[in-house]
Amino acid sequence: MSKIIIEGGRKLEGAVRVHGSKNAVLPILAATVLNGGKNVIYDCPKLKDVYASLEILKCLGCNVSWEGNTLIVDSQTISTHYIPENLMREMRSSIIFLGAIIARCRNAIISYPGGCELGPRPIDLHIKAFKQLGIKIDESHGYISCKVDNIECDSIHLDFPSVGATENIMLACVLSNGITTISNAAKEPEIVDLQDYLNKMGAKICGAGTSVITIEGVKSLKDVCHTVIPDRIVAASYLAATAITGGTVTVENIMPLHMQPIISVFKDCGLDITEDKTSITLDAKKQIHQIDFLRTLPHPGFPTDAQAPIMAVLSIADGTSIIAENMFENRFKHVAELARMGADIKIDGRIAIVRGVKRLSGAKVTATDLRGAAGLIIAGLNAEGETEVDGLCHLDRGYENFEGNLQSIGAKIIRR
Ligand code: UD1
Repeated sequence: MSKIIIEGGRKLEGAVRVHGSKNAVLPILAATVLNGGKNVIYDCPKLKDVYASLEILKCLGCNVSWEGNTLIVDSQTISTHYIPENLMREMRSSIIFLGAIIARCRNAIISYPGGCELGPRPIDLHIKAFKQLGIKIDESHGYISCKVDNIECDSIHLDFPSVGATENIMLACVLSNGITTISNAAKEPEIVDLQDYLNKMGAKICGAGTSVITIEGVKSLKDVCHTVIPDRIVAASYLAATAITGGTVTVENIMPLHMQPIISVFKDCGLDITEDKTSITLDAKKQIHQIDFLRTLPHPGFPTDAQAPIMAVLSIADGTSIIAENMFENRFKHVAELARMGADIKIDGRIAIVRGVKRLSGAKVTATDLRGAAGLIIAGLNAEGETEVDGLCHLDRGYENFEGNLQSIGAKIIRR
């Protein structure tokens, strides 16, 4: 198994480009099932989760090809509505295929996604909404079987603004005979990108980005071309890497509006940020300030996916910061590894108390989830001596050439 080796202490300087968003492209890949035609997706990141989705699409009978970072999916030739367990296990968020397959085939059979490295990954909100849409669901032997003749359009209220459930309902209702509304919908930028994608395909959806989304069913859809939005979490990770090294880096290909919850935290840390139309420059020459209380929340709150990278930064702040993880119960696994690097962090349930230390020290650490992996690499950029990060299968789910890009802005980092 390969590892990342970092020699910490180098200031990052220069510019780095952010790739297309993982969390935007995954539901878009599910959406390619719907039109029975050609889907051209520009700036599609080459990530493990994307490849896992492509295996599902191929298994369903789609033709898939790449031209550079442009992905072409032809879903005309779909021949099954069944996703086997080995493909579902590769990626927990593959549950979003359910809505798209039901919409296209009126039947879907997928293996139950089960838990994941962030703790239990319930799908009760998805199932409750599907039942409300008249979809007959049978859950047995680890599989979920769904069947519907006609989607019964309805007003669906989500008890929690789940990103995946919002996307699944949107996908399931595109090809229906009426109007469905989702209230308390998730407002993440990736939901807006899915709406844009579906509307380019001929869907009639409005409201994404607000808490009420309206889906007016259409009879058929057409071919579509689309550029995926930039990945705000990857952008946040480069900003964190810059901050922890006291460097100055311009992060290119971002949408400043999507970055506001993250920018505001770096500003609270006392760092200088300049925003442009499609880039942000972080100048981190000043000492990092502690943050009184940082909560992860649904968008437009601070994203849970940026919690591990920001924790690495706060581990060398000038005082004590408190972080509340409100989204996933098992999302502090990187803390024990940061402690091996000299970080002073205490956990009590969903609260982390981070006492800033002067500098971290290099150690052998193991990543156990995607953003935790990024957090450990970011910590390694500060640490004195050598840091060895194991568990790169997690990193590769969501970052394309992370180490190469960090290298290009001055980090001493290699994979071997
Ligand atoms: C998506 C993102 C993930 C991000 C998360 C929260 C993708 C591919 N993944 O995941 O990176 O961390 O949003 O911003 O876009 N929940 C239930 N029942 C359900 C569904 C969710 O209780 O049926 C709970 C979850 O356990 C979790 C919370 O709701 O505590 C948020 O989950 P959700 O918004 O659904 O996250 P995902 O779509 O899985």
